[in-house]
Amino acid sequence: MGPERLRTAPTIGRVARRLVILGSTGSIGVQALDVVARSAEDELDVVGLSAGSDWQGLVEQARTHGVRRVALADPDAAAQAAEAWTEGEVLAGHEGLVRLITEAECDLVLNGIVGSAGLVPTVATLGEGIDLALANKESLVVGGELVTALAEATGAAIIPVDSEHSALHQLLAAEQPGTVERLILTASGGPFRGRRAEDLEEVTVEQALAHPTWTMGGKITIDSATLMNKGLELIEAHHLFGTSYAQIDVVVHPQSIVHSLVQLCDGATLAHLGYPDMRVPISYGLHYPERVDVPVRPLDLAELGALTFEPADTETFACLRLAREAGVAGGTAPCTLNAANEVAVHAFLGGRLRFLQIAEVIEETLTRLPGQQVHSFDSLAQADAQARRLAGELVESLTRA
Ligand SMILES: NC(=O)c1ccc[n+]([C@@H]2O[C@H](COP(=O)([O-])OP(=O)(O)OC[C@H]3O[C@@H](n4cnc5c(N)ncnc54)[C@H](OP(=O)(O)O)[C@@H]3O)[C@@H](O)[C@H]2O)c1
Repeated sequence: MGPERLRTAPTIGRVARRLVILGSTGSIGVQALDVVARSAEDELDVVGLSAGSDWQGLVEQARTHGVRRVALADPDAAAQAAEAWTEGEVLAGHEGLVRLITEAECDLVLNGIVGSAGLVPTVATLGEGIDLALANKESLVVGGELVTALAEATGAAIIPVDSEHSALHQLLAAEQPGTVERLILTASGGPFRGRRAEDLEEVTVEQALAHPTWTMGGKITIDSATLMNKGLELIEAHHLFGTSYAQIDVVVHPQSIVHSLVQLCDGATLAHLGYPDMRVPISYGLHYPERVDVPVRPLDLAELGALTFEPADTETFACLRLAREAGVAGGTAPCTLNAANEVAVHAFLGGRLRFLQIAEVIEETLTRLPGQQVHSFDSLAQADAQARRLAGELVESLTRA
């Protein structure tokens, strides 16, 4: 269903929008189900759920929300789910995930999968002309040009769920082409804001997971600590809004109240504000172009007193610099960056890599694998596999050292 149909959706006597939630057992997925549960009956009807391997969590969600079809990427987990749950159908593997989307006759897919594993479902969704509420930023980092071209070809809308991009989507909605000078993404700065590289030598996984303002899945929380998350978001914004990298800035804003800003040609700067709560952008993505009540506190600026801003330290947090460079280089470079980051973050979470070595592994992988032009999704899959192999070897050599 293309954007036109969404825009003209009737508000009275309407049929609920059929929704598939991918990654429903994760942080985004659980909050999305909360948003759905609070919606009116004729608004959203969840017809499919998916997870990686957490079959027990998935089956429980299916029971609670009356969903009859689920998919698990891990075939063993799918087999266990099928044995334990006989009230519906369990699909398995990547093929199962794609079938969940393409056979659901759905109006909207929310992609809350973590990592580049989200790319195939993104492509399956947009390829069918189904609108996509996109939390999985890695889809756009890895396959930005091909993904946006696919959406354009089929008329499917991509509605960003990342809070900064949701903010920009809302701010840009009323602007005429040619009036926007600059997009400004805000970053909380993560738990290590203000520290220098020498202070970060020995930081632990637990310290890196202690995000000051957002509660999220493990991978994105580490990405927030390294500022790679903001780097991935920079690339995501470039593809979503067709804005050059030179026109996208990052500013550190520790309170996470301003979610992004847009500078216009007449000197005006528009900002989107609110307390940090992912249910707000999730609700926007699921209900767009309508808005519904979300149980969050209204913003009280007097109570907050002060909002502060500072430049991002790309010397200490090299991942942000590496992401910008990879974005500007284009081709397979962002795919390589993302794959190396996923491998390095996984190793850090597993206690096999030190915090500062995450950036080292990514930089070395990018240096050794010069970017190629992207011709097809297959060439991206090859670049992803090659980068994962090399990054894995680099992790091993650093672990042994
Ligand atoms: N969390 C946030 O507040 C937030 C904010 C903005 C953007 N995002 C973006 O949203 C995405 C999800 O983040 P999250 O924090 O919700 O992650 P998360 O809590 O780790 O959840 C990830 C979900 O993806 C599933 N999954 C993992 N590997 C998979 C695979 N190979 N194939 C299919 N499904 C797989 C997981 O299933 P299992 O439970 O079985 O592992 C889980 O349902 C990321 O791209 C992130 O950058 C998140």
